[in-house]
Amino acid sequence: MRVLSGIQPSGALHIGNYFGAIKQYIELQHEHEGFYFIANYHALTSLHDAEALRAATLEVAVSFLALGLDPNVATIFVQSDVPEVTELTWLLACVTPVGLLERCHAYKDKVAQGIAAEHGLLTYPVLMAADILIYDSHLVPVGQDQKQHVEVTRDLAERFNSRYDREVFVIPEPLILKDVAVIPGLDGRKMSKSYGNTIDIFDEPSVLKKKIMSLKTDSAPVEAPKDPDTSSLFQLFRLFASEPELSEMRARFEEGGVGYGDLKKRTVALATDYFAEARAKRQELLAHPEQVREILAAGAARARSLARVTLDRARDACGIW
Ligand code: ADP
Ligand code: TRP
Repeated sequence: MRVLSGIQPSGALHIGNYFGAIKQYIELQHEHEGFYFIANYHALTSLHDAEALRAATLEVAVSFLALGLDPNVATIFVQSDVPEVTELTWLLACVTPVGLLERCHAYKDKVAQGIAAEHGLLTYPVLMAADILIYDSHLVPVGQDQKQHVEVTRDLAERFNSRYDREVFVIPEPLILKDVAVIPGLDGRKMSKSYGNTIDIFDEPSVLKKKIMSLKTDSAPVEAPKDPDTSSLFQLFRLFASEPELSEMRARFEEGGVGYGDLKKRTVALATDYFAEARAKRQELLAHPEQVREILAAGAARARSLARVTLDRARDACGIW
């Protein structure tokens, strides 16, 4: 079974990215063959500063490694180091109904926010389909918000296979971690870079503390019973708490007797500890960027050798010499 996923390098990674995506990659790498990449072509739809894109690409690579993706076990690479993927994007574009792309929530949301409806923004899911299909991926771990894009991928793979009457592409499945499907941000909305409401994985402990302590809560007094399921603060706490601590806190929260201030302090302590080891590893890697580049080059070489085989199969099926 081959597992593949990608993350856009559009800035520092936040804990929504971690619990919604990266944590699953790390767990899955020991069970299945893993391909994990940095989607820098996708980032061009929103990030238009060359230096910032280069820096963010390295930052995501370093974060993957610091958090525990192991290059001896998984294939870690940068999307653009496999140019075959853009060629496959064109072959897939030729089986893609425009209406299918226009119905994608991510596209509609961005256009509704006033982001220019550029061709790349509309075609984004076709490039993503190429990313997935070119490595014959079986499983694609993503957050809930990317599920529709994996469905588009399945649709395009089926259309291509059916148009050319050959099993060119493996039909992939999305893998959504239900329990923590959407991590709330500091304002209670989905945590997202574009809302500026993130807690970043590598925020300095002082920043982490400031962010969590200033989280908005209602005015319920300490003794009031509270509903853990509607509290964003509790949703954050549960990410970092051990099972026994979680059930104890849940009971106290529901009965009354826990103030938001105390729960914030506990969340700060747990969150700081949770990423302490990764923070240290990241510093080591940042001191040796050449080693990170070597890892990425080896990953790309391996990814390309697989990509070539699928691309040739697709070219052959549709009659490109
Ligand atoms: P952002 O919304 O900050 O731009 P991305 O779209 O780059 O984040 O997301 C990268 C990965 O992290 C995707 O797999 C996405 O589903 C997951 N993800 C992002 N935000 C969250 C969140 N708040 N909760 C759960 N998963 C998330
Ligand atoms: N669109 C994904 C995101 O923003 C990133 C991505 C690009 C991806 N290609 C992919 C995820 C292929 C999974 C598989 O989160």
